Amino acid sequence: MDSILVTGNGPLNGEIPIAGAKNACLTLMPATLLSEEPLTLTNAPRLSDIRTMTLLLQSLGAEVTAMNAGKVLAMSSHALTSQRAEYDIVRKMRASILVLGPLLARFGYAEVSLPGGCAIGARPVDLHLKAMEALGAEMDLRDGYVHAKAPAGGLKGGVVEFPLVSVGATENALMAATLAKGTTVLKNAAREPEIVDLAHCLRKMGAQISGEGTSTIEVQGVERLGGATHSVVTDRIDLGPYMLAPAICGGEVTCRGGRIDLLQAFCERLDAAGVSVEETDKGLKVARKNGRVKAVDVVTEPFPGFPTDLQAQMMALMCTADGKAVLEEKIFENRFMHAPELIRMGARIDVHGGTATVSGVERLKGAPVMATDLRASVSLILAGLAAEGETIVNRVYHLDRGYENVEEKLSALGARIERVAGQ
Ligand code: UD1
Repeated sequence: MDSILVTGNGPLNGEIPIAGAKNACLTLMPATLLSEEPLTLTNAPRLSDIRTMTLLLQSLGAEVTAMNAGKVLAMSSHALTSQRAEYDIVRKMRASILVLGPLLARFGYAEVSLPGGCAIGARPVDLHLKAMEALGAEMDLRDGYVHAKAPAGGLKGGVVEFPLVSVGATENALMAATLAKGTTVLKNAAREPEIVDLAHCLRKMGAQISGEGTSTIEVQGVERLGGATHSVVTDRIDLGPYMLAPAICGGEVTCRGGRIDLLQAFCERLDAAGVSVEETDKGLKVARKNGRVKAVDVVTEPFPGFPTDLQAQMMALMCTADGKAVLEEKIFENRFMHAPELIRMGARIDVHGGTATVSGVERLKGAPVMATDLRASVSLILAGLAAEGETIVNRVYHLDRGYENVEEKLSALGARIERVAGQ
């Protein structure tokens, strides 16, 4: 298994491109299952999670061709051969559940393996299943699989009221509703930019959707959807760490393609910490204003709140901030697994339930650490950039699931970082 070796050094300066959003791409890809006609995605990120979704779609009989070194995905579902998503693929990635809505809507039947546990909490799929039921489907859990069956004549529009905000369940319901008969209203829907991107793409395919980006989305079902070409929205979770890099190390970095509206709450917290964020024609220009950053409190919330996917990286910044920062995790339980690793590097962190209190120290010290999940892995790299000496981040396969060319991008800014091949 590969590791990443980081040697803390001086300020970081330069310009880097930000990838297309992994989480958007993982919901745009299953949208191909809704139509017989081709769907082409441009600005796709090159990540192992995207390859896993490719394998899943191919296992259903879809054609998926990666072009332009993986940045373009040409897909076609004109001759699907299966409506069953097998455990072997689903267990690798929870987002596999996103094939449920499209398969059920187009074929009236789907079998999807339950994704199983996950390192950052229980993460059930009950909201996905309830949404399908609200559209008239019968759901049966047997042998570790969800067996979903639409009524004769297909899914029926209905009111889906989510008891809590779920990105994935909103996406599944939105896709399913595009082909359901009549009107569907999604209440307490997620408002993330990835949902808005999905709605834009579905509309290009012929879907009738309004209200995306608000908590009520309305869908008028149509008979069939056509093909489309769509450019994947910028990845705000790829953007965050590159904004934090100059905040932690000093310097000035321009993140090409970055936009404040994708990360308003995060930008506000950076501003309060003493980091300047300026939107330019090229993207976001980020610089640490003067000296050490100030400690700021963070509460993770659904969009437009502070994203849970940037909590670990923000904690890395707070480790060397001036003062005490309280970070509250409200989306997932057990999402502070990076804290003990940061403590190995000299950070002062107390975790009680869903709250972590970080007392800033002047400087961290390099150490061997373990990446426990996708977002934690990049937080440890950021901490290593600011630490004295060498940090080795082990188990970086997590990193490769969600971040494209991290070493190349950070090296281009002047960081001392390299990948060490595993034995
Ligand atoms: C998506 C993102 C993930 C991000 C998360 C929250 C993708 C591929 N992944 O995950 O990176 O961290 O949004 O912004 O887009 N829940 C239930 N029942 C369900 C579904 C969810 O109880 O059926 C709970 C979850 O356990 C969690 C909360 O709802 O506590 C929010 O989860 P959700 O928004 O569904 O996350 P994902 O879509 O899995």
